[in-house]
Amino acid sequence: MKLRALALVGLLTSGLMTTTHASDIELVKIMSALQYFTHKTTLAVDAENPELAAFYAHELEELIEELEEVESYHNQPIASFVTAILEPSFETLEDQIKDNNWPQSSAAMNALIDSCNKCHQATQHGFIVIERRANNPYFQQF
Ligand code: HEC
Repeated sequence: MKLRALALVGLLTSGLMTTTHASDIELVKIMSALQYFTHKTTLAVDAENPELAAFYAHELEELIEELEEVESYHNQPIASFVTAILEPSFETLEDQIKDNNWPQSSAAMNALIDSCNKCHQATQHGFIVIERRANNPYFQQF
């Protein structure tokens, strides 16, 4: 009986640990993808390429939707922060890209990057500082 109970506790604990671990990996994966697509959106905006900018903005939107499903991560309300901090600046960016307003899109890009950093500060990750870069390290034309 005792052994069985122990085994059960072990099973439950390992189950819990796996869950925590999986959600850790997921958030950092979404963040890496966010950085990647933020960079590519910026390059497309800098190149004033409407189709490409709209394509990458759409990828950002999907990631934002994914983040809005992460209710809590290490006791941080990720979904609420995303809705309050990131989404408004993303909406502005999306509108400016749709309207082919390039100087405004570029300004909106800066505002979006500010939102990334605001949330990093709000979640005790202020040491992760997103910085706008104009170089193209990709095997791709913008
Ligand atoms: C909800 C708040 C929040 C928002 C908004 C946010 N981040 Fe993060 N970010 C985090 C947290 C929390 C971590 C740490 C994740 C971990 O510990 O697994 C992180 C980690 C990162 C990392 C480190 C992972 C890596 O691949 O190096 C990068 C890069 C990153 N974020 C980029 C961004 C970018 C770009 C944006 C904006 C488009 C953004 N983040 C918006 C909370 C946020």
